Amino acid sequence: MASAPRMATASPAVRSLSEFSSEVVGGLSHPGQKELPSKYLYDAVGSALFDVICLLPEYGLSRAGMRMLERYSGEIIGRVPGPVMVAELGSGSGQQTRWLLEALARRQRVNYYPIDISGSALFRCQQELGQIDMVSIVGFERAYLDGLQEVAARRREGERLLVLFLGSTIGNFDRPAGDQFLREVRSILREGDALLLTTDLEKPVPTLILAYDDPAGVTAAFNKNLLARINRELGGDFDLANFEHVVRWDETERRIEMHLRSKVWQRVTIRKAGFRFYLREGETIWTESSHKYNPREVVQMGECSGYRCAGQWFDSEWPLAQNLFFAV
Ligand code: AVJ
Repeated sequence: MASAPRMATASPAVRSLSEFSSEVVGGLSHPGQKELPSKYLYDAVGSALFDVICLLPEYGLSRAGMRMLERYSGEIIGRVPGPVMVAELGSGSGQQTRWLLEALARRQRVNYYPIDISGSALFRCQQELGQIDMVSIVGFERAYLDGLQEVAARRREGERLLVLFLGSTIGNFDRPAGDQFLREVRSILREGDALLLTTDLEKPVPTLILAYDDPAGVTAAFNKNLLARINRELGGDFDLANFEHVVRWDETERRIEMHLRSKVWQRVTIRKAGFRFYLREGETIWTESSHKYNPREVVQMGECSGYRCAGQWFDSEWPLAQNLFFAV
């Protein structure tokens, strides 16, 4: 008989409005390039816009990830001997994870712990995955590493932890920070624990530019929503019409950069943060990076961070890799 799905969400450990406020002020006070942390793109509006991005013909990344997990989940899970508990960093909509959980649930009861600072992302994930037989979900509304620590503390005797970091979210970190993040994850793991990491691969620059500057303007809206969110939550007075979404490929860093360019000289006030600043005409706020990798460097990233690579799978249409690592 099917087991009743268990759904619960551990409440956030800290109230995050003051953290949001101080990170926004910090990024906008940078003496050179102003920036905003991309993790704040995903409020309810941003998460919904990201779902639309994933439907755009120009943005092949998430469809490729989905195709690959549909196709290779059995094989991937087969390489991770049980019993296994699953943690996911950045639950997203949960659609890709379904394939992995179903593959694992054929073998055992599964405890699945999505971790996301976005409550709306967790909610959607629980909607999507809450009904799978043999799978219990407990979501953690936390920063990744804090959440992972709490999940690891729930490990039962003899259980292996499988950490999912899908969708090439690691690409938001620059390379040194990405390595550092993998090391921090490793420090929470035990030897033999597994990490499934998705990495978007290098591809022709025009393809990349279109993927992040789609003609319908959804990605532009996704980035501008960060300013709208600051207006809503922090009492900002950004006039979105005064900003333009710009996308660049940085050849040295091998990353897409997304910026919001000020069309005019302007003054912006963020009331609840007690903060006011100025933008010159043409000056940009850097909102997001998306690093692109080659398969060999991904293996090295893992190796220099305390893992060995146990397999890489590739999509034939949209260059993307699913990389399975074990903590050593
Ligand atoms: C969720 C970070 C993987 O970099 O492709 C997509 C975010 N931003 N379009 C990416 C994103 C604009 C996405 N990641």
